[in-house]
Amino acid sequence: MKILAFAGSNSEVSINKKLVTFVTSFFKDDDVEILDLNDFEMPIYKNEREIKDGIPQSALDFAKKIDESDLILLSTPEHNGNFPAVFKNLMDWISRIKGRKIFNGKPMLLMATSGGARGGASVLEIAEKRFPFDGAEVLQTYSLPKFYENFDEEKGITDEEKLKELKEKIEKVKSKF
Ligand SMILES: Cc1cc2nc3c(=O)[nH]c(=O)nc-3n(C[C@H](O)[C@H](O)[C@H](O)COP(=O)(O)O)c2cc1C
Repeated sequence: MKILAFAGSNSEVSINKKLVTFVTSFFKDDDVEILDLNDFEMPIYKNEREIKDGIPQSALDFAKKIDESDLILLSTPEHNGNFPAVFKNLMDWISRIKGRKIFNGKPMLLMATSGGARGGASVLEIAEKRFPFDGAEVLQTYSLPKFYENFDEEKGITDEEKLKELKEKIEKVKSKF
């Protein structure tokens, strides 16, 4: 199975990238690719820009990565209760590619984390409701609150209950394939 993993963040020290990278460690038998939005920089969407220059190559390249995958592992940060601009911008550009939806029918394990107690619950709720319209089949959702208390750089998730919950959800995702 080909797995595409990424965080909806352009932070060089993204905690969501750390979480999603940890989650890939449970897919050792699969072909996993972890992308970084910093490698797909693109201008802010503007209709005149699209008319003049077309869709940025980075958006086309990212869409191709989605198309080539069998499963998406995504962890999104929460910025003011919503998607970070960099991730929303990527989705907006990809949505302009003709004849496809953003996630092109792909199954997804949808996650969020933050340093706060809500663990990105607001953006997770928004994404869970919206992504089916964007072509994602959301198989499971998972939130890790208080990242800095519950995650160790070497060991990964240290909170036993949250680790158990994650493992159970990963098993449910795997059972779909
Ligand atoms: C503009 C901005 C808005 C934020 N808004 C929220 C928020 O609404 N809820 C939250 O839990 N954390 C919020 N945060 C804190 C982020 O969760 C924190 O920066 C986190 O590290 C982002 O994830 P990342 O490291 O993967 O980019 C915000 C941070 C920024 C810079």
